[in-house]
Amino acid sequence: MRVVMIGSGNVATIFSRLIKKGGHTILQVISKQLPNAKTLATELNCDFSDNYGALNKTADIYIIAINDDSLNKLDNPFSVGDKLVVHTAASVSKSVLQNISANYGVLYPLQSLRKEIPDTVGMPLLIDGNSDHAIQLIQDFALSISPIVSKANDEQRLKLHIAAIIANNFTNHLFSLTEEFCKNEKVDFKLLLPIINETTRRLSTHSPADVQTGPAIRNDDSTIDKHLAILANYPKLKNLYRIITDSIRTNR
Ligand SMILES: NC(=O)c1ccc[n+]([C@@H]2O[C@H](COP(=O)([O-])OP(=O)(O)OC[C@H]3O[C@@H](n4cnc5c(N)ncnc54)[C@H](OP(=O)(O)O)[C@@H]3O)[C@@H](O)[C@H]2O)c1
Repeated sequence: MRVVMIGSGNVATIFSRLIKKGGHTILQVISKQLPNAKTLATELNCDFSDNYGALNKTADIYIIAINDDSLNKLDNPFSVGDKLVVHTAASVSKSVLQNISANYGVLYPLQSLRKEIPDTVGMPLLIDGNSDHAIQLIQDFALSISPIVSKANDEQRLKLHIAAIIANNFTNHLFSLTEEFCKNEKVDFKLLLPIINETTRRLSTHSPADVQTGPAIRNDDSTIDKHLAILANYPKLKNLYRIITDSIRTNR
């Protein structure tokens, strides 16, 4: 397939590398800021622009990997007849593309992607399309860049996005606050890596509710009080500690 990539951020970059590896040709990168379009295009050795007027109309698939707000505000920036157009967002309906092409859909990676982390393993691609024909085209393309491809409509993607944010983005934020706490208190954050890895490893064999540990599940109030006293200097972390402790207690 000949591909035009719209956007040059995390998803555009990771997708572009996988697409090239999958044997496809990237013709052009279009991005809002020319230097960013140029950076990705230089890596891919293709054309680039910041102007939809210069869009290469000879591609087979147009991938719009831009942030959700810009995607929602895309006001018919271009039209490509019946060429395949997809976006990569979970929480934006495929119908935002309905005036761009007769064949459109979604290619959503259910993975946390950062362009500076090229070796991310396992990327389920959730696909949708406006017709059986579009779904088939998107599925064939998706399978060439990941072995894990599933169908998910707008509503299912939205719900999975909420789940992914809670399970991934929120835990990563907790890791970030924990690292800051460890630095300030001069204890080694890296010593936590085995316990963090063990927690995620268990998920493939156990329900998380069945393997909860810690003072909240044991009702060790004296320990919780000690922790809250030390966290007095960290109001944000103290608040989260309280909320999550209550949540664990009321989940039994
Ligand atoms: N990162 C993830 O983990 C992840 C995972 C699954 C799905 N997604 C979805 O994928 C989409 C992209 O996310 P991302 O993380 O790649 O975002 P990102 O790294 O912030 O990149 C956003 C890109 O959008 C470009 N852009 C914004 N408005 C534009 C416009 N009108 N025309 C052309 N380019 C425009 C920006 O261009 P400039 O750089 O030139 O300003 C930037 O390259 C989002 O819908 C997101 O929900 C992300």
